[in-house]
Amino acid sequence: MDTRPEDDRLPYYEDPSPGSGSLPARAWYAASDAARLALNGTWAFRLSGTAEEADTGFTADGADAAGWSEVTVPGHWVLQGHGAPAYTNVRYPFPVDPPRVPTENPTGDHRRVFDLPADWPADGESVLRFEGVESAARVWLNGEELGTFQGSRLPHEFAVGALLRPTGNVLAVRVHQWSAGSYLEDQDMWWLPGIFREVTLLHRPRQAPADFFVHAGYDHATGRGTLRVDAEPGGRVTVPELGIDLATGEETAVPVQPWTAEIPRLYDGELATAGERIPLRIGFRTVGIENGVFKANGRRILFRGVNRHEFHPQAGRAVDEATMRQDILLMKQHNINAVRTSHYPPHPAFLDLCDELGLWVIDECDLETHGFCFFPEWRGNPVDDERFTPALLDRARRMVERDKNHPSVVIWSLGNECGAGAGLGAMARWIRDRDPSRPIHYENDSDYPDSDFYSRMYASHEEVERIGRREEPPLADPELDAHRRSLPFLLCEYAHAMGNGPGGLSEYQRLFEKYERLQGGFVWEWIDHGLPKQTPDGRTYFGYGGDFGEELHDGNFVCDGLLFPDRTPSPGLIEFKKVIEPVHITGDAGAGTVTVTNGHDFADTSHLAFEWVHEVEGERLAEGRLNVPPLTPGESADVKLPPAPGGTDGGEAVRTVRAVLARDTAWAAEGHVVAWGQVSAGGAVPRRAPAAAAVPGRRAGGRIELGPASFDAAHGRLLRLGGLTPAQAPRLDVWRAPTDNDLGASWQEDARYGMRWRELGLDRMRHRIDGVDLTGDALTVRTRVAPAGEELGLRADYRWTATDDELWLTVSVTPDSAWPCPLPRLGLRLGLPAAFSQATWYGGGPGEAYPDTRAASRLGRYASTVDALQTPYVRPQENGARADVRWAELRDGDDRGLRMTAGSAPFWFTARRWTSEQLDAAEHTTDLAPGDTVWVNLDHGQHGIGSQSCGPGPLPQYYLHAGTAEFSLGFREVTAEG
Ligand code: GAL
Repeated sequence: MDTRPEDDRLPYYEDPSPGSGSLPARAWYAASDAARLALNGTWAFRLSGTAEEADTGFTADGADAAGWSEVTVPGHWVLQGHGAPAYTNVRYPFPVDPPRVPTENPTGDHRRVFDLPADWPADGESVLRFEGVESAARVWLNGEELGTFQGSRLPHEFAVGALLRPTGNVLAVRVHQWSAGSYLEDQDMWWLPGIFREVTLLHRPRQAPADFFVHAGYDHATGRGTLRVDAEPGGRVTVPELGIDLATGEETAVPVQPWTAEIPRLYDGELATAGERIPLRIGFRTVGIENGVFKANGRRILFRGVNRHEFHPQAGRAVDEATMRQDILLMKQHNINAVRTSHYPPHPAFLDLCDELGLWVIDECDLETHGFCFFPEWRGNPVDDERFTPALLDRARRMVERDKNHPSVVIWSLGNECGAGAGLGAMARWIRDRDPSRPIHYENDSDYPDSDFYSRMYASHEEVERIGRREEPPLADPELDAHRRSLPFLLCEYAHAMGNGPGGLSEYQRLFEKYERLQGGFVWEWIDHGLPKQTPDGRTYFGYGGDFGEELHDGNFVCDGLLFPDRTPSPGLIEFKKVIEPVHITGDAGAGTVTVTNGHDFADTSHLAFEWVHEVEGERLAEGRLNVPPLTPGESADVKLPPAPGGTDGGEAVRTVRAVLARDTAWAAEGHVVAWGQVSAGGAVPRRAPAAAAVPGRRAGGRIELGPASFDAAHGRLLRLGGLTPAQAPRLDVWRAPTDNDLGASWQEDARYGMRWRELGLDRMRHRIDGVDLTGDALTVRTRVAPAGEELGLRADYRWTATDDELWLTVSVTPDSAWPCPLPRLGLRLGLPAAFSQATWYGGGPGEAYPDTRAASRLGRYASTVDALQTPYVRPQENGARADVRWAELRDGDDRGLRMTAGSAPFWFTARRWTSEQLDAAEHTTDLAPGDTVWVNLDHGQHGIGSQSCGPGPLPQYYLHAGTAEFSLGFREVTAEG
């Protein structure tokens, strides 16, 4: 038996040092006049269960790869039918004993034979470049070993010129899923081994620069840009548009337009040495921290950011350029101006796109050792273990050298969630020395010795406000405290976008706008990482942790993005867009004016046009253009609205003012809506009291007849309304399928109300009938609603009245004991025939809204199928409510149906083809099957959403306390005639 004593030298994949044989890191660029050969495509592939069980004979010429299968490079073998993906958040999916990894270490041997193009230059050097391989690789060319490397999301190059031949070059790469490097890559995401970024052969002509560093600053006081390009060997730098032609190493200053994320002005240039011509795209900008404020080109900026993992539902982290562009376009279209590349440097082309389209970037190193800080009893956190320090420095170097020439990159981040350790200090020192032009970010050491930002994740509004006021409790060490107090503040993660939510975005934004120190935040996160799976009968759904046979996993915590896995925007993104809009439009109904404020940091409003629409009860009566003078950043103007056309006729009138793009831009077409506001324009909210001219009720056998309705006399249950027989009569209902935010994260100790609601049995309430009284024109039904096994309950009295064609219900609710928690919701549930599949409503829309996610809900008249009212959260949960509804109708194909009208106050309207209990029981979208009923919730209240799937719960003002409540609604049968 082959044994390896513990004190033997560790094999390369367990060696914490960065590897061997690769070239020094250097800047990435998309193209030059030097030859390059892409080695992507189909590679021969063999998977072994352990690191060394297969021999290395495949590296030789003429080796037999017959019987091997194939994979596509770039790609992950686990997404190509070999093995399976696995998801864990904090826990390592192997025994923790750094730097050792399990003997069971899936190992993919990759082999590809290639010919050189006929014109491949014979002189100079050639370099083999890997943009990203997870997690450790050993490389051979034509039977010669080139070396080994770790550092999955970082490039590695090898000099191979001497080994190349015109035809039949054999490139062999052995990739191990687990390595010492895996301890540094404990990011919350799928474990996805493979050669997942490009492999390229690059010619390096003699006298080509080994590396180059573009220093392009902007002096906002003089309006001049400074440029110096360092390169070795040197050459000349030209920027024709600016008349620049200078030697490398020399500096010049000329008047320029600066680069910002809002106006991403790039100048085309070229670096030419005797060996190579490299196109440059130069953005002049200067960033830095002045008096505790992070500034770009002399101005405080506000990050309206997201955390972006690389993710594609089919390709995993092998994200193609079209998808990268799509991400950025979607961000720009939703008013996002910044990205934190959580938690590793992205594909380098992504940064080119950020330069071009305009996003501020926090470029984060490929580093996370979360398990070691989450479980403090664990020994040997690699960031505090000097055996790993060379690897940490190697990672810092590879990130900075690769990405240093991007104007979009304004902050370096050491990594995510590693706790504290000397290795982080070593990284920070190296980075400061190499690139003093950008500040450094690191969140996970509360003393912030290495960070230029005070940064937190998931801090409550209260904590953020305290920091904004500079009133945070002091650190024990006065020097460290003074340092932290001097720093600008970022929420590097907040607003956990898991499932329905996040709630509370508006309130965070108001704080960022109020306190200079608070420079914005980055929502967690951009996209749900759901991977497609199929039911046995062939229906596709998105799977999450636990769906792929994992032994350890963290369920749907991997689906916490503003986009669904297929990149459809979720309601959270629509809400975020509204909350962060860079133009604020508010109105003064009395004065008939709107106030427009430019919230951009740099751009004036000349790229926008303003439009108004006048609607009465959701009917568009007039529209036009609004002349708003161009506003500089921070400037406001009050603009008079044109007079309302022809009065309101008593109906509720509303003006909507929109700021739209006046011209096509690189990221959206003319007419794209950037911001909007609504102003009341007179008339009354169409609230109706239960009808005054009520008709008397009468008993008839076992029935009570009241206007158009008939009730069962024993229980006071509605049996019929005109020709309509409800599948379930309206009755009090408080249950909602708990959202991920209701359920809360396991580390949240209090107020995980979703759990509490379930324990109490709010999903199985019983309705006791205490009395059915018909007195004159009102039928009163007294009930007590309570779950088995509990003493608490709600008294609910229903008071029915009617006119000839409409039925009115007033519900009075009184808790009959003290409730230990808020209610999920409070309202009515009723069941209607499945054919009632078309909804129309006048109220908030078009999308869903909840008490603390309603900024984007706009008053109007909307229509939708019941199916389209659903939001397909990857793990099914409460969704689809429409806020502020004045009336709603559900109709069948013959236009027959039910109209529901708000009485005392607008209601929350929800309709779905399954019950809340069925929604709650479903684990995936395909578990939901439409039944023969459309279930309708008409709610007086909803509990807030918050962000407790990772952070704080709803703010106190969004609690739905169990208290006395009364609400009323009208019901009328409708037909094609009206
Ligand atoms: C943070 C972490 C992220 C992610 C998030 C929860 O602690 O930095 O990577 O795990 O929580 O989704």
